[in-house]
Amino acid sequence: MTKARHVAIIMDGNGRWAKKRHLPRAVGHQRGVEAVREVVRAARSMGLEALTLYAFSTENWRRSEDEVSTLMGLLKRYIQSDLEEFIANNVRLRVIGEYRALAGDIVELLDDALARTAHNHGTTLAVALNYGAQDEIARAAARAAAQGAVTVESIEAELDTAGMPPLDLLIRTSGEVRLSNFLLWQAAYAEMMFVDTLWPDFTPAHLEAALEEFAKRERRYGGR
Ligand code: FPP
Repeated sequence: MTKARHVAIIMDGNGRWAKKRHLPRAVGHQRGVEAVREVVRAARSMGLEALTLYAFSTENWRRSEDEVSTLMGLLKRYIQSDLEEFIANNVRLRVIGEYRALAGDIVELLDDALARTAHNHGTTLAVALNYGAQDEIARAAARAAAQGAVTVESIEAELDTAGMPPLDLLIRTSGEVRLSNFLLWQAAYAEMMFVDTLWPDFTPAHLEAALEEFAKRERRYGGR
């Protein structure tokens, strides 16, 4: 039995969840945040070392202005309302991606939340914002090159996830079977799970089931 240390989730299906109920897409995203809140709490109580969530990709800017601002507003409110809970429960917030390109008030809010949880050593919650894996790898390789030899190790040390435990399990909800430019480097040896559940319907029980399934899988890392 291997216990997963680091799980990442592509939270997909908010729009379809809303559509099925004849509700605006924004309601699907709101329910998506509720799922985030419960899954983060569960990850912490299950003792997971790290949880990385794909909240906003470099490609998501192509959505309507209205939807982008809904997502940004939800992110802002989530951090504002749950920050005290992170602090009380030893959760360390991290952001991966070029979040400094987001609106000034969000950058300020995130910087404050990062600073106030920086010394926590319980679960790390990494939120991917304005994140694209190809962009991350290119930035890391450029920094590695500026410092000397470009090697697997020197690139890895410059990734946005540097210092986090290796990625064990990558989950995507809503039945789509692709990585959509998420954690391409880190997924090298990760187990993958694609589940049909739409993100707003994803509960701590789904996370628990995924971790149980992970514990049963045998990983060989290319060896025998
Ligand atoms: C996919 O649903 C989900 C997203 C684009 C973003 C996920 C964002 C949240 C859950 C809310 C904000 C995040 C945090 C961390 C507070 P979709 O719109 O692509 O669904 P569809 O494919 O069914 O249209």
